Amino acid sequence: MFFFVLISACRNKLPSELVSSKAIVVDKAAVVSAHPEASKIGLQVLRDGGNAADAAIAVQFALAVCYPVAGNIGGGGFMVYRSGDGSDISTLDFREMAPNKAHADMYLVDGKADSNLSRNGQLAAGVPGSVDGMVEVFNRYSKLKDWSRLVEPSVELARKGFPITAFQAKRFNEYRQAFIDNNTKANVYTITENWKAGDLLVQEDLAQSLALISEHGRDGFYKGPVAEKIVAEMERGNGIMSLEDLANYKSVWREPITTEYQGKRIISMPPPSSGGILLAQLLDMSETLKVDEMDFHSVEAVHAMIEAERRAFADRAEHLGDSDYYPVPFEDLLDKEYLKERISDFNPERASVSEDIASGDFSASEETTHFCVVDADRNAVSITTTINTGFGAKTVVGGAGFFLNNEMDDFSAQPGVPNAYGLLGAEANKIEPGKRMLSSMTPTIVDEDGELVLAVGTPGGSTIITSVYQVVMNILAFELDCKEAVHSRRFHHQWKPDKVFFESDCLSADRRAELESMGHEIVERSSIGKVEAIQVVNGKLSAVADNRGDDSAMGF
Ligand code: DON
Repeated sequence: MFFFVLISACRNKLPSELVSSKAIVVDKAAVVSAHPEASKIGLQVLRDGGNAADAAIAVQFALAVCYPVAGNIGGGGFMVYRSGDGSDISTLDFREMAPNKAHADMYLVDGKADSNLSRNGQLAAGVPGSVDGMVEVFNRYSKLKDWSRLVEPSVELARKGFPITAFQAKRFNEYRQAFIDNNTKANVYTITENWKAGDLLVQEDLAQSLALISEHGRDGFYKGPVAEKIVAEMERGNGIMSLEDLANYKSVWREPITTEYQGKRIISMPPPSSGGILLAQLLDMSETLKVDEMDFHSVEAVHAMIEAERRAFADRAEHLGDSDYYPVPFEDLLDKEYLKERISDFNPERASVSEDIASGDFSASEETTHFCVVDADRNAVSITTTINTGFGAKTVVGGAGFFLNNEMDDFSAQPGVPNAYGLLGAEANKIEPGKRMLSSMTPTIVDEDGELVLAVGTPGGSTIITSVYQVVMNILAFELDCKEAVHSRRFHHQWKPDKVFFESDCLSADRRAELESMGHEIVERSSIGKVEAIQVVNGKLSAVADNRGDDSAMGF
């Protein structure tokens, strides 16, 4: 049974109070997210005296309603937190875990990895972490201390509906066949054709699931009707997640990865994300190559940054995985002497060849989501959350109204076989029961002398790391303002394939030709990353939403 209702009568523009900006400067508090409805809900929590953690919890649940392509209760994510005075920096890992019945060969068919199995349908799903994660954030950092106050706006939003944007209508239409192929029960996404901007998306099943979470907290999701619906969904398909897997899910507080660049402290996510370690490596190599003395998007700067990216991603493939299961060599990977050595064969005139850097094809999508919140006390939250590729497994949990993630594809299903982002992996990232799949998500916060400088992050699969790296460099090394830093076009190299991906209008034809003559193979692609950032400038908050989507900055 399903309870979705679609009312297509309302095809107006967004109500005026929802018209938000891509870039604002405010005194007190700000929220930047992928959707105006979520930013608005977060803003109201801040106005009502909630702190950044309160607002972030409300935004996470709101995105699950208004941004179903990536916002979620059926997925997971990472948070980096910094208290206003800098005395408390922490990270929370609410990444999905492999179910207990998972094993290294689970996606092999006749000895070959079958990406359809790891990307679509019930078997692709890891045990979701988002609800447990938000409960952890609430217990440790909430100021309002009223859980239901933070979840209820999303119950309402799901129940009353909201007008979808043109981007969303296009996506829903593009994915319709995949929804039909991967759902065991009819739902609004399988039924509705020809979505248009302004159509109202009402999600009664999701409202009921959120109401249970509002009332019972963690148990509203990991036990009782929602958990039972997840397991029933598994049984209608080829899934293996059990009630026990759900009951045992646990998010983990972890020590942040920190590094210094340009006199500032960079605080980012440790494994099971590769993001923090790679960002630290990239910044360190940039320091060695003195990229800050070069010009923004000059050939010499772009070349140097590509070469740093090539080397960092080679390390990722070999050495990174869930550190609870695999001895990730943290100290070696972050050792300054090692990193100097790593970039010592850099040739300013010539591209390296990835085959020579020891240690698929590439699909473009921006379907994870990032949001940042900074409150009046300068507490900062930077959260990246995902169900992996667009709409995750494409399977809505029957009767519960939310998409399952397809995060299992982030494991290395077979050595040498790339995942959806063309990333390779090895022993470090093989599938094991209870293990967390390696991620590229890089929620990051920067501070200096005890003061907050920047909160930043983005979706984009493997391009997450290079996008965060470039925005941090744009601000700290090239001294662009926050809006320019976020809205400028980007480029990406990930070691293999040995190509550099450029957004179409990133560099002039002359500069591209020069890079090609140095040996870089350039491939144009659609947008790279969808960054949200809040920078503190002269005591005010410069909050910037990417201009690559519906993203929205709000504040006061
Ligand atoms: O954790 C990761 O690295 C991926 N699951 C993120 C997926 C993503 O960013 C999708 N958007 N392009």
